[in-house]
Amino acid sequence: MKIFLDSADLEEIKKAKSYGILEGVTTNPSLIKKAAKARSVKDLEVYIKEILKVCKGIPVSLEVIGSNYEDMFNEGKLLFKKFNPVAKNVYIKIPINPSLKKGDGKKSDGIKAIKALTKLGIPVNCTLIFTPEQALLAAIAGAKFVSPFAGREDDFIRESAGLKFDKKTHFPVEGLRKGKRILNDNGIYSGIDLIEEIVEIFENKDISCEVLAASLRNPRQVREAALVGADIATIPLDVIESLLDHEKTREGMKGFTKDTIPEYSKIFKKSKNKRK
Ligand code: G3P
Repeated sequence: MKIFLDSADLEEIKKAKSYGILEGVTTNPSLIKKAAKARSVKDLEVYIKEILKVCKGIPVSLEVIGSNYEDMFNEGKLLFKKFNPVAKNVYIKIPINPSLKKGDGKKSDGIKAIKALTKLGIPVNCTLIFTPEQALLAAIAGAKFVSPFAGREDDFIRESAGLKFDKKTHFPVEGLRKGKRILNDNGIYSGIDLIEEIVEIFENKDISCEVLAASLRNPRQVREAALVGADIATIPLDVIESLLDHEKTREGMKGFTKDTIPEYSKIFKKSKNKRK
């Protein structure tokens, strides 16, 4: 499973890039708002171009803001034309269904935009996926990535049951039992279950679209996304860093540091001196 950073913050992107394990970046309008405020960004176009330069060689997803086919298609083309020349790494994020209101007749506008952008050779990351069926249609329309939102699926299952919860806490893959039934969203038991079903459907038909697990909020969820076969996980920086953490690792380090005998240290000192 590849690791992407879920952030539009240039400093965070540079930091994650310096770790040497980063294979992509995803942004959305909320992440751009957060970064613009945190870094007091004066010129957003220049800032985005800087992100793309820093990420040369790895894909960066930029999202449209329209909520109908025409706007999404035109914005996708505009974003690609304006920003892809910088480092040839732009993917356009298109919501699977841009409807803001139930019954507004725009359900299919997402897949139409995916199809039209794909026809122009523009790679699409289809976002806001909450059912395997949405993922299947996005892939058929030509999306290169589909982004199921695992954490928000867990939120939805808990919210629908009227539960109080902390968004960062681990949610069981197999779902939560309440009384006699296991809570679910039309047969989906958790965000990770959603990812697993998409992976299985894509495997059944040899669909090459990659499953990009999004809205991951804790290390265990990242592990579970990998276990069920997600191709990519997009993760906030604090979660990437917490993937490296374990109390026994720190305890082990303390022990090794304490037990180091002077003769052993000397070997390293000699080579350090040579380097100087
Ligand atoms: O990539 C999607 C992500 O940014 C949403 O995360 O934690 O707001 O559900 P979250």
